Amino acid sequence: MILYCSCAIIINNILKEEEGFIMSQRSSFSSKIGFVLAAAGSAVGLGNIWRFPYLAAQYGGGTFLLVYLILAVTFGFTLMIAEIAIGRKTGLSAIGAFRKLDSRFGFLGILAAIIPIIIFPYYSVIGGWVIKYFAVFISGNGAKAATDTYFNEFISSTAEPIGWFFLFIAFTAVVVLLGVQKGIETVSKFMMPVLVLLSVGIALYGLTVDGAMEGLIYYLKPSFENFSIKTVLAAMGQLFYSMSLAMGIMVTYGSYMKKDNNLESSVRQIEIFDTGIAFLAGLMIIPGVFAFSGGTAESLNQGPGLMFVTLPKVFDSMPMGDVIGTLFFLLVFFAALTSAISLMETIVSILRDKFHWKRKFTCGVVTIIALLMGLPSSLGFGMWSHIKFIGLSILDTFDFISNSVLMPILAFFTCIFVGFVIKPKTIADEVKIGNTQFKGERLFSVMIKWIAPVCLIAILVSSILNALGIIVL
Ligand code: PHE
Repeated sequence: MILYCSCAIIINNILKEEEGFIMSQRSSFSSKIGFVLAAAGSAVGLGNIWRFPYLAAQYGGGTFLLVYLILAVTFGFTLMIAEIAIGRKTGLSAIGAFRKLDSRFGFLGILAAIIPIIIFPYYSVIGGWVIKYFAVFISGNGAKAATDTYFNEFISSTAEPIGWFFLFIAFTAVVVLLGVQKGIETVSKFMMPVLVLLSVGIALYGLTVDGAMEGLIYYLKPSFENFSIKTVLAAMGQLFYSMSLAMGIMVTYGSYMKKDNNLESSVRQIEIFDTGIAFLAGLMIIPGVFAFSGGTAESLNQGPGLMFVTLPKVFDSMPMGDVIGTLFFLLVFFAALTSAISLMETIVSILRDKFHWKRKFTCGVVTIIALLMGLPSSLGFGMWSHIKFIGLSILDTFDFISNSVLMPILAFFTCIFVGFVIKPKTIADEVKIGNTQFKGERLFSVMIKWIAPVCLIAILVSSILNALGIIVL
């Protein structure tokens, strides 16, 4: 509710200000709220609604939630401040920004550029699943989707998921090609509060079903037995992913931010938005797993399919379930689309800066690469399910490489770069331009110099050793 009210206030503000914001040229956001909403549009997506709940279910419920929240206000805060400030200070996107501040660190920009290229294709595969479920519900077939085998049959087939995946990429590419982001962002600004309201409604309904309370407790109550290094690892990867951190996107957004906007409070608002929506998604899905699938270890460990298996069961038991399911998947589609647009736009602008290609041509190249790279992720659940890397499916492998390997590496170097090369004071001075004080300055300096780099290295090493089976966490 609080979240809804804040969305409503924010939207009201935009209407009052009647100011648009365009990101196509290096103009700046005309208002702070424009900036916050655009950054939230990139941040809030499948990461919050699809990825967060399945990780929370798998890694100990309340324990995961608590670890995630602690990381969000420490790590998340620190990295987001650093990235946005670097962008605003230099007025450049990642590749140029790091190089401008210190030519020896130009490689960070390149590393940042690789990450969205890995994420975008498999993100679109999941985006395709969302469109499929929208189609199923709008055609009144929600009850079928609520059966146990439906989801697995769908993802293990060959042609159908690929078709939906192509459609999702096509939507994204058309928006990026026509440069109509502004239109989409306006629509999704209105959709976001509806999504929040609907999620609250679905979650409340879900809690009334027998067995759900046990799920609620599992989701909210931390328990020490459920804690392991894996929990921290998963929460950290999720944090980067969900907040669009450690891949240069926030640097680019920062480069569009006006100097007199309050950077620190913008970061807080983006974090509240993003975490609030993830929390609600968990509230909707995890009690449902207990109510409809018994909360067994197997049902909690389902991984990427969790949302698609659990929610149709919730909808099926509700009055007007098909209508609610249709609306829900439509809203999720919009949230996913705004994130996918920011991913594709980033890739397009990096390639254009580098090769000076025309926009249309670049969009074509990116679309083709994404189609080719996404195909194995889609087939990895069916025809190619025998292909596994370190025990992971193809989609999970891409997810692992970007979130558990490359992002911690980039985040580590960003911390070293800010902490010891340009020094935290450079960032603090930038933060203070829009607002003379920087309340979290002490936390920021200690985190970026010491705590974050040490934890990141520990996490990276343990994640790789664990993946290789050298140590079992
Ligand atoms: N943050 C987005 C989400 O939660 C995903 C994303 C990652 C978008 C990276 C842009 C860049 O879904």
